[in-house]
Amino acid sequence: MNLQRENWSSKLGFILAASGSAIGLGNIWKFPYVAGENGGAAFIIVYLICTAIIGLPVLFAEILIGRTTQLNPVGAFKNLVASQNSKLFWSSVGGMGIIAGFVILSFYSVVAGWSLGYIYESVSGVFFNAEIFNSDEHFSSLISNPIWTVLVHTVFMALTMIIVFLGVQNGIEKGSKILMPLLFFILILLVLRGITLEGANKGIEFILYPDWSKITVNSILEALGQAFFTLSLGMGAMLTYGSYMSEKDSIPTSGLQIVFLDTLIALIAGLAIFSAVFAANLNPNSGPGLIFQTLPIVFTKMPGGYYFSILFFILLTIAALTSAISLLEVVVAFFVDELSWKRNRAVVVFGLISIIIGIPSALSFNILSDYKILGLTWFDLAEFLSSNILLPLGGLMISVFVGWIWGKSKVFENIKKGSENIFLEKKWILEVWLIFLKFLSPILIFLVLFRSLNLF
Ligand code: PHE
Repeated sequence: MNLQRENWSSKLGFILAASGSAIGLGNIWKFPYVAGENGGAAFIIVYLICTAIIGLPVLFAEILIGRTTQLNPVGAFKNLVASQNSKLFWSSVGGMGIIAGFVILSFYSVVAGWSLGYIYESVSGVFFNAEIFNSDEHFSSLISNPIWTVLVHTVFMALTMIIVFLGVQNGIEKGSKILMPLLFFILILLVLRGITLEGANKGIEFILYPDWSKITVNSILEALGQAFFTLSLGMGAMLTYGSYMSEKDSIPTSGLQIVFLDTLIALIAGLAIFSAVFAANLNPNSGPGLIFQTLPIVFTKMPGGYYFSILFFILLTIAALTSAISLLEVVVAFFVDELSWKRNRAVVVFGLISIIIGIPSALSFNILSDYKILGLTWFDLAEFLSSNILLPLGGLMISVFVGWIWGKSKVFENIKKGSENIFLEKKWILEVWLIFLKFLSPILIFLVLFRSLNLF
């Protein structure tokens, strides 16, 4: 084992870094539009149930594997099984997480790049140029420009690399300690602005009153996929962050805090966005373009919109940045632990590889838009593969590992270390947790996978 492996300097450091990973484009870009398309409050309720019965148990399991082994996903699984054959099998499960990290980064940093580019657009005041501004055309003209999409993606990746380069304590932890409070502060300003707009109540109603007619089997599976994506589960990010955690800190308490913060931020972001969208009399279900096409119009209609537009895109970029660093960290940790690479070298090499893999995604909106694999552009394929296949499959394997393979006594012994929460330490709670991991999550995740592969 690597003796110089760093740890978080404090429990707060872990909570902020892990919520930084969880809170990202998934909360602020994806959650509102997916909820908008699936009946608002009804979808939110289904999503909350999925988070409680699948997300939370899998999150505990992932952090537990990381903290127990103090290793990256491949090393961690290898360390916990005995026979050669199982070592090979379970390290490839860890390896799948590392590949998933690249696949996610390749489309994530493209959307994050748009957000970064939109900070510039909002500062320039272009949204407010009433004579010529058309937000749909503006967005289309930006993303159809290959130089722009590749440039903003590359700048965003460079920012990610700088933070990961600085290390666990000085980069990721310090960065999260500055960026996360800033994110909370900006979001509070935005939601206060949103809900005090005239006509905001229709947006608030949309979030509060469920329209069950919009809920289909697909929306349930979508909610489950979203719960995974937003909690950064199924690819080893939480496992890796857990590996820098000390045995003095409690996994159940930290896990609950992370889920609470992640869910709270998604709800507040939804509230801020929908109250503003409804107040401006616009459509809440405009899909992925909600943020880049609908919101700029919303800003032009609200008092102080110029400043709020800048704040909004800074918020989105910060959220994406603290998630992207966790994606890159998974790969870096693997090369540092397993192959004894220097951290700096791993960051530069894999940062550059991520930039290169992301380029076809950045070009999926222009030069490569007609170049399709299985009917999907590179960008759509990367998103589909990660959210619908790699993350659920990873989550399934993690549940099976902790539920069936590791051994109950070891699982219980390890999860109790550092526990300060008397309720969560009760034997029956732990038993219920394990039963969820053994049966409920594998079955439900299996259904998601089947559905994704169009098998029913
Ligand atoms: N949780 C992040 C978000 O919601 C995305 C992510 C997924 C990050 C998987 C790391 C690992 O945006």
